[in-house]
Parts: sequence; structure tokens; C-alpha cells
Amino acid sequence: MKCVDLTIDSAHKQPMDQANFDLARARRETPGCENVLHFNNAGAALMPQPVVDAVVNHLQLEAAIGGYEAKNRELQAVEHVYDAAARLINCTPEEIAFIENATRAWDMAFYSIPFKPGDRILTAKCEYSSNYIAYLQMAQRTGAVVEAIPNDEHGQISVSALRNMIDERVKLISITHVPTQGGLVNPAVAVGAVARDAGILYLLDACQSVGQMPIDVKRIGCDILSTTGRKYLRGPRGTGFLYVRRDLIEQLEPPFLDLHAATWVANDRYEIRSDARRFENWEMYYAGKVGLGVAIDYASSWNVETTWRRIKKLADELRSRLVALGFVTIHDLGVERCGIVTFNVEGVSAVEVQRSLAALGINVTVSYEEGSRLDLGERQIPHLVRASVHYYNSEEEIERFCHAVTSISR
Ligand SMILES: Cc1ncc(COP(=O)(O)O)c(C=O)c1O
Repeated sequence: MKCVDLTIDSAHKQPMDQANFDLARARRETPGCENVLHFNNAGAALMPQPVVDAVVNHLQLEAAIGGYEAKNRELQAVEHVYDAAARLINCTPEEIAFIENATRAWDMAFYSIPFKPGDRILTAKCEYSSNYIAYLQMAQRTGAVVEAIPNDEHGQISVSALRNMIDERVKLISITHVPTQGGLVNPAVAVGAVARDAGILYLLDACQSVGQMPIDVKRIGCDILSTTGRKYLRGPRGTGFLYVRRDLIEQLEPPFLDLHAATWVANDRYEIRSDARRFENWEMYYAGKVGLGVAIDYASSWNVETTWRRIKKLADELRSRLVALGFVTIHDLGVERCGIVTFNVEGVSAVEVQRSLAALGINVTVSYEEGSRLDLGERQIPHLVRASVHYYNSEEEIERFCHAVTSISR
């Protein structure tokens, strides 16, 4: 990893890597910056030009010479995503599966786990709805039980509570690193230490964190990790990947198999492949696969440590500017907060805020209680506005954003 110069620049009182951050280049290489103020990076970030070029070029090649032929001609670019993803999260390419989104990646691993009656699944309060629905379905099918780990006083997973919940019936610890509905960053490394000490399987939904912050699966100690391409990695929609630890891959039989995941070796027998690609489909989005490889390289070229610091700085600034307006409530929890800023404006519904901002060319989303029922339900927040910043956003955009919020307040 590139060494980051953190010497303080005394003239500007900020770390050197931030002072030297080439924002002009980041924005120049992001064509969407000319059209919108995009604070919806946790929805789908604006793709940089090299990613757009890679996807479009591959599609054009498919149109020109045929889809199978384009894949064969560009095989190196198609295969590159495995190396790129492995380098990004510190694993081997054999431990990576390219899957069309984070949910399906997560599902392919989760539904491979053989649960039996009484097995306990421990999850986070802020768990994502799709994951929780899968726990409930699995519980109905197998008699396993799902339990939420209490939060600590900061609103993040209580690691001590988790430790106290461990017994021989806990089959899986499955948590969301960064929730869809807030700036919280759950203590994934500390959870990993508990899982490792107890020898329990650890599944991490890193959909909102990969690309946003440095992720090292060895340091975190997770056995399985899922993520998407379109969010903080700035890749194309319809892409994602799954990591499964080498020793675990062959113990997990995917819920679906096809002729890519397995080989029909005799009339009455098949053999499942031994790498993580057993969780993939045969047919896939090749242009997106090439694009995701380029997106990961692009993210790495900026140095994720550096962009992570910039994202946090922008988000902190946005939070404090919004609070200073006096009519905005910030909802983000946790000790460390990321680029997702969630809030409500007094007297204006979240949907109205979103609609009014959209009319001004500003993109945000709304999170609803049903997206993370345990969390927003308990906090009695039926909906909130989610503004999510990326490193290519500017301080000037934060200023414009706060003016816009002021203009729509009552
Ligand atoms: C925490 C979390 N997990 C999973 C997902 C699902 O990702 P995808 O839409 O790529 O399946 C999301 C999407 O917002 C999310 O926020």
C-alpha cells in the first residue's frame, strides 16, 4: 500500500494528503459532476470516465463481433476483476466470485449454510431488510433462531453484549458493516475477534463500506463478505462480488448450481468447482465485469486510505453545517461516522425534502423504516433523508446543499 504523507501543513492546518488532494482531477474525470450535485453515492455513485469507457467499449465490441467472441477477445480484461477485488480486500482471486449485486452475493453464501433447529444467528440492530427477511425465511424453514445484538451507548454493536451472547448454539454472526440508513460504522474488527475466539462463522455485509474505507478481510477476520459495484466503488450497476475464505469454500454447497458452478461428470453425478466461482452464474454481465475491474483499479489509484479521510471530512463538515442551521436533526449513530449523512428537516417530510432538492438538481434518497425495521422502528424514525458524499464532492457543493436545505425549510 502506498505510504500516505500525514504531515501537518501548518499554513492550512490540515493533513498534507488532503491539502494535496486533486479534486479538480477527480471532478474532471467524473462527467456527471457537470450536471448534478450528487449526494447519492450510497445509492449509486457517479461513474468515472474510465469506467464508462470500459463498459461502453465492451458493449460496442459485443455489438460488433458477438458477445461470446467479445468475451474471448477481452478475456484478460474480463478476468481482471478477480485480481483487482482480491488486492482491494487482501485475499486471493480464488476466494472471489463475481455476482450481479450484493444481495445475491450475500444470499448465495447465506443459503449455503446448513442450519438446524435451535441454531442461533446473531445479527446487528441496524441490519438491512433483505438480510433480515432471509433470516426469517431460514428460521421458518429450519427452526434456527435470529437474535439482534444490543447496541452500546453510541448506537453501534455492543461487542461486550455480543461476547455474552456466545454459546455452542451460535452458528453464525452476520452483521452489516455500514447500514443503508446512517453514517454508523459497526466495529467489524472487534466483532471478528469475538467470532474468531469462539470459532463461529462470520458473515459481513460490506455493501456500503467497500470502496468507501480500507477493507482487509484478514484484519477484520470475516469468513464471508459481500459487496456491490455501484456504490462507493463507482462501478456499473448490476455488479457485485462475494469473498469466501479458502478453507470454507468447499464446505458450502450453493443453493443453486449450474454448468458453470458444477460439471456434469457422469449421468448421475456432478462435481462442484472448488473455488469461489461455485457461487456464480454461467451467464453474466461481461461489460459490467470489465467495468467493475476498472472501477476497483480506479479506486485504488486514488488510495482508499486517502479518499476515506476525505469522505469523512466532507461528511463531518456537512453534519456540522446542517446542525448549525438550527432546524435540522442529524440521525447518524456510532463512534466513527462515514460518508452517509442522515437527517430530517423540521416541518418538512423526508420525501418533500428529496423532491424539492431534486428540483434544484440535487440528488439524495430517503430511507424508510421498512428498510431497517429494528433500527428505525426502535428510534421511531419512519423516514429520513440520506445524503451520501464521495471524495469527488466539493466543499462548495456542501455550501450549496445547505443553502438549498434552508430554501425549502418552513
Ligand atoms: C447494507 C446493504 N446491504 C445490501 C444492500 C443491497 O445491495 P444490492 O442492491 O447491490 O443488492 C444494500 C443496498 O442498499 C445495503 O445498503
